[in-house]
Amino acid sequence: MKSFQFNHINSSHFDVKVLFVLLTAVAADAQSLHAGSCPQQSVQEDFNVTKYMGTWYEIEKLPAVFERGKCNQATYSLLTDGTVNVRNAELLSNERINSIEGAAKVKDPAQPAILGVSFFKGIPDAPYMVLSTDYQSYALVYSCSDYFGLFHIDFAWILARTRALTEEVISQLHNKLAAAGVDINRLTVSNQTGCEVMT
Ligand SMILES: *[C@@H]1O[C@H](CO)[C@@H](O)[C@H](O)[C@H]1NC(C)=O
Ligand SMILES: *[C@@H]1O[C@H](CO)[C@@H](O)[C@H](O)[C@H]1NC(C)=O
Repeated sequence: MKSFQFNHINSSHFDVKVLFVLLTAVAADAQSLHAGSCPQQSVQEDFNVTKYMGTWYEIEKLPAVFERGKCNQATYSLLTDGTVNVRNAELLSNERINSIEGAAKVKDPAQPAILGVSFFKGIPDAPYMVLSTDYQSYALVYSCSDYFGLFHIDFAWILARTRALTEEVISQLHNKLAAAGVDINRLTVSNQTGCEVMT
């Protein structure tokens, strides 16, 4: 009887969590929700996390509800224990800088291009997959979470070492994203102008 009650409480908790995730995702962009499990992705070969550290600017992304500002950027620094400190910053419309710190970690050394990122303690980390990067100009990042194999929610980012990329590089990255199964029509261009106050 006791164990039945325990299971019952657990599962109703779970439903609330799932419902929350669902509603959040639907609010963000109904098209981020897809049927079935996350697609298998091929990631950057021989990924070197050390070379990946430093600042990256967001050029394009799949809509993400937690980003409201412009001049979005991420700064990664490798800590001595191998964890990556993550600092995401953006400029709000009132000209104030909003930033958030988190931690990222390679979970399986055999898969160094797949990290888990977490911004809040106690919240499960989200996958951060580097699909492709040359470390010095561009990076293509994909994230996908599975819900019971019934549906998945995905995100994608085109990042660069500068606040702009050439059309040629963007077009190559669009092709890679399309090959990864991402609908590139869903990408939004990030505003990286008037970012002088950002460091
Ligand atoms: C990763 O890159 C760093 C910095 O360039 C370099 O020192 C290190 O040897 C590289 N690691 C591997 C395994 O290639
Ligand atoms: C980007 O931001 C600048 C400066 O705040 C603004 O003038 C411009 O209209 C914005 N561009 C877009 C496409 O929203």
